[in-house]
Amino acid sequence: MISQESIQQIQNQIDIIDIIGSFIKLKKRGANYLGNCPFHNEKTPSFTVSPTKEIYKCFGCGKSGNAIGFVMDHEKYSYVEALRWLAAKYNITLEETEASPEFKAIQLTSDSLFIINNFAKDFFSNALLNTEEGNDIALSYLKERGFNLDTIKKFQLGYNPSARDEFTKVAIDSQYNKDLLLKTGLVVSREEKMMDNYRGRIIFPIHNQSGKILGFGARIIKSNDKAPKYINTPENEIYIKSKILYGAYFARMAIDKADECLLVEGYTDVVSLHQAGIENVVASGGTSLTPDQLRLIKKYTKNLTIIYDGDSAGIKAALRGLDLALEEGLDVKLVLIPDKEDPDSYVNKLGANAFIDFVKNEKKDFILFQLEIALKDAGTDPARKSAIVNQIAETISKINKTEEFTRRQDYIKRVSEILKVEESGFNALVNKVIRDKITKEESKSFRADLPPLDESFIDADDETSALFNKDESHEQALVRSLVEFGLKDWDEEQKVAHYFFSQIDDLDLEELIDNKKLVNIIHLYRKWYKEGLQPTAKNFLYHDDPEINSLIIKIMDVDAEISPNWKHHYEGHIPTREELYKEEVISTMNYLQLRKIKRLIIENQQELEKTTDPQQQLICMQTHQHLKKLEADISKKAGTVIYK
Ligand code: UTP
Ligand code: MN
Repeated sequence: MISQESIQQIQNQIDIIDIIGSFIKLKKRGANYLGNCPFHNEKTPSFTVSPTKEIYKCFGCGKSGNAIGFVMDHEKYSYVEALRWLAAKYNITLEETEASPEFKAIQLTSDSLFIINNFAKDFFSNALLNTEEGNDIALSYLKERGFNLDTIKKFQLGYNPSARDEFTKVAIDSQYNKDLLLKTGLVVSREEKMMDNYRGRIIFPIHNQSGKILGFGARIIKSNDKAPKYINTPENEIYIKSKILYGAYFARMAIDKADECLLVEGYTDVVSLHQAGIENVVASGGTSLTPDQLRLIKKYTKNLTIIYDGDSAGIKAALRGLDLALEEGLDVKLVLIPDKEDPDSYVNKLGANAFIDFVKNEKKDFILFQLEIALKDAGTDPARKSAIVNQIAETISKINKTEEFTRRQDYIKRVSEILKVEESGFNALVNKVIRDKITKEESKSFRADLPPLDESFIDADDETSALFNKDESHEQALVRSLVEFGLKDWDEEQKVAHYFFSQIDDLDLEELIDNKKLVNIIHLYRKWYKEGLQPTAKNFLYHDDPEINSLIIKIMDVDAEISPNWKHHYEGHIPTREELYKEEVISTMNYLQLRKIKRLIIENQQELEKTTDPQQQLICMQTHQHLKKLEADISKKAGTVIYK
């Protein structure tokens, strides 16, 4: 492990302009630097790097991060690999520390599993290519299916001989540890005897991103009702199914180039498509996509095309992953392979070029496809049709990131056409779903298990409610004003941070801020501040917890945009946030006040509903009036300084 001191040394030396500038061309623009974003295609530059804040943000695709994160994403490095790259760049000698005993033990086991798997891969490959049994039974089968020798070698396919323990014997003779052999799943123990688990099967090694072997899929040669078609490696220190995509190692360059990832179900589908020259393809193993797999894909591209056999169970499994994919910001397309075929058999039938054309012509938008299927099912039943409208509004509401606004609007337009409903009405419905979700999340912390409030009493669409529905941007603004302006003078006696903490206590934070990670940042800030440190955004930018890094990047403004309200107020010189920091601090703190009052109003309302005593009712009504007045006053003040 790299020592904390070395990491610190790297962080101190980091010059984000120098680092990013070594990959892309940057031009100075005001306080920042501007270039073409390396993470998406663009002609007009929207990729902004701030040397003072040490972060980059792309206003086109929304990607952002610190210098280390940039090197990781751009070069597809792990954190440690990025540190090594930076150390080499700045001539820093890395100091390595001893890892903890637990970490070492896992490391040791993982290393051993990789070594055994590699040994097994060679054994199986040799058995396939250089033994009579392998040639007769397995190689002939693979050739019959159309796999050529180059492909077989590239994917390192193999064969496990049919005798009881041919592999086991060789492995034990080579001094491999029995427990570890069992852990790899290559060997099983039956009646106290060790034997080969994949006897008589074709072996598909499964590679990690750097080509090391995580495990195997073993396919039976002659189908057999009693035995499963495939046996896969059991979960162990290195084979974690939810994080694996078969073929990713061979596909990564092609995915980058095509800016698209094709997803199929099976091992043979990947191998066949590769052989046909379609290399940007990975397989999920026939289960629904996991968040980790989606993230892996998203590292390379945001365009995912699922190619499944139309009547397989797999298509249902894939559909289940859809909402997650949308939330991750992936653009999902679907291609259905006709009757009884799968991508492997179909590419063999059509040939490479016709298959490529087929994919191109049949590619359907996943959301619209889902809609079509549902409409076909529903027929003319109006009740079912209206259920579909709600369902699709729900799905579209998942496309929720700010930078995806146009994409969402585009769907709204196309879906309203298909449904033959008014676009404006459907738009309103989607917005309502989004709003409801936010309100629901808010009320979870405000009034769990309580009956719905009387809408006429608390008018739901007054200005403050609108304010509340603007997701967590207010919470972020509060934390931003602390982190950015905390060390500035509040008055002659105290700093902003001091004032901030004198006004806001723990209870407020816990109860009034929904995003608990933002609360963490405030706590951390206070801890550091009390310890005499002078905390700035940088302390969070390179903090150990990557979630804190990304959150701080998200809330820091590279190009602070002034609210239109301000432009209205000032003629000529438009003040910067720096000049107006006190106003910003007040207004963001007012927001917290507003939430508090909102909560008191709700509590008072509940009190009113419970009580039967007229005297008490009157008091509640008066309290309500009073709170509403307070709310109106503060929201009037807060309304002027809300940053977008
Ligand atoms: P398929 O049954 O479609 O197999 O399962 P396939 O990959 O097309 O293989 P061929 O073409 O018949 O030889 C799709 C995937 O589901 C997983 C495997 O990952 C397989 O590639 N699977 C299937 C299993 O893990 N176990 C099984 O018993 C069957
Ligand atoms: Mn198949």
